[in-house]
Amino acid sequence: MLPTDPTWYKNAIFYEVYVRAFKDSNGDGHGDIHGLVEKLDYLKELGVDCLWLLPIYPSPLKDDGYDISDYCSIHPDYGSLEDFKRLLEETHRRGMRLITDLVMNHTSDAHPWFQAARSDRHSPYRDYYVWSNDDRQYSQARIIFLDTEKSNWTWDPLAGQYFWHRFYACQPDLNFDAPAVQAEMLRVVDFWLGFGVDGFRVDAVPYLFEREGTNCENLPETHAYLKTLRRFVEEKYPGRLLLCEANQWPQDVRAYFGEDDEFNMAFHFPLMPRVFMALKQGDRTPITWALEQTPPIPENCQWATFLRNHDELTLEMVSPEERQWMWAQYSPEMRMRLNLGIRRRLAPLLDNDRRKIELAYSLIFSLPGAPFLYYGDEIGMGDNIHLPDRNGVRTPMQWEDAPGAGFTSASVPYIPVIQADPYSAGSVNVAGQKADPASLWHSLRAMIALRKRYPALRSGELTWIPCPHPAVAAYLRRSNADQVAVIQNLSVKPVPVELPFENSSAELTDLITGHVVPVQNGRLKITLRPYEYLWLV
Ligand code: BGC
Repeated sequence: MLPTDPTWYKNAIFYEVYVRAFKDSNGDGHGDIHGLVEKLDYLKELGVDCLWLLPIYPSPLKDDGYDISDYCSIHPDYGSLEDFKRLLEETHRRGMRLITDLVMNHTSDAHPWFQAARSDRHSPYRDYYVWSNDDRQYSQARIIFLDTEKSNWTWDPLAGQYFWHRFYACQPDLNFDAPAVQAEMLRVVDFWLGFGVDGFRVDAVPYLFEREGTNCENLPETHAYLKTLRRFVEEKYPGRLLLCEANQWPQDVRAYFGEDDEFNMAFHFPLMPRVFMALKQGDRTPITWALEQTPPIPENCQWATFLRNHDELTLEMVSPEERQWMWAQYSPEMRMRLNLGIRRRLAPLLDNDRRKIELAYSLIFSLPGAPFLYYGDEIGMGDNIHLPDRNGVRTPMQWEDAPGAGFTSASVPYIPVIQADPYSAGSVNVAGQKADPASLWHSLRAMIALRKRYPALRSGELTWIPCPHPAVAAYLRRSNADQVAVIQNLSVKPVPVELPFENSSAELTDLITGHVVPVQNGRLKITLRPYEYLWLV
């Protein structure tokens, strides 16, 4: 049933699932694995090829599961290993794949390794973590969770030493200098790949090692270990995916592909905020700039592109001036901000303006890279900025206009369903949008289907079509089999354009609307409506 191409990920459509938020099958107010199984047909219908599940392991949930207390088991809220086996079978039966989150950098402080390590200096687990008698080492390492953490060191009275952590203090970093830790992580990888998962989104990759006098990111030791990891996967489980989360500049991320001997894919963090910049400025320059900074990658590797995810819209990969500008434009209220980012969903960021939302998707679905959708963004779900941390973008999936949004029969879900219009479950839900052929859901589904039908859109070479007007992002995607011209107006104003086309006289058809656009004497002349996008063949 599964396509056999070992580089399947290059052309896949990914969908990020927060299991807790997706579908509650047993009425306890928490989404679960059975619930997700019920919704696999929905994902198939949308055109999803691969699911990425946020952490599903036992955890005290102080960082929503990114604080793992047992790597090889399932959180009881979600179900059992047997349930997970069934999820994999049902996913595969539908020709889809599934990757899970692999959090290598740190564990929860509730993990038995940490508990053993802190209680006994002579425990074999002591060396699993990074300890110090003072808090002065590695002072060049930045603090990532700026709003809550004051230091990367926390004093543990039981251990009688400080321990190192790049994220919350409840997430002690593992010590990758310890051979036992390196081996443990390969065991975890072996366990899940042996179980049948199709790969991992590897969390917080740049921070595995620490070295004095550096910023403790992207170190050569980290790359060396990742090569070992890749070799292990490649030899025992060829065709599985390793996807890198490194929130870094393109040249630094480039190193994580290596010579196709580290990761198969990596998220493109610098491109994402620049889509929002370009839309607000009505100017393609931020996008062309990000792509110019993007070095070529090995043939079998691929960028993972996205508009939003489960975290804040990170502004780490912009200049300080750009960050201030983005904050002012996109998060006028202070509580919309978090650390170096903006904790809002796609639709509210884009003023719930259908034209802008579709245009953003048009960019991400027609530029190079494999696109990732964040659950709920396919129907334009809203957020709840009154919830703490990043919970506001992790609210229950809105399936129908019903109490509990068709997500749960419980009267109190894990966090409230969005109540306020225009984003309430009554106004924004899957059932309503599926029944309405003019809905966002249908537009997105059509775009996904087109991307699958036209190889040029997935893997074609990209050539920019010269256009003097800065609001126009126009490019040709060309494969051996076909070519598609994508023409987009990023501005709120109508823009007349005249673009050169090789075929001196031809008729181009817009794949989106079916409208015919004439080319005369090698020129395409058209006035683009505000935020209009055309996919022409
Ligand atoms: C994840 C976050 C998480 C952090 C620490 C990230 O990069 O995306 O959600 O809080 O890693 O594990």
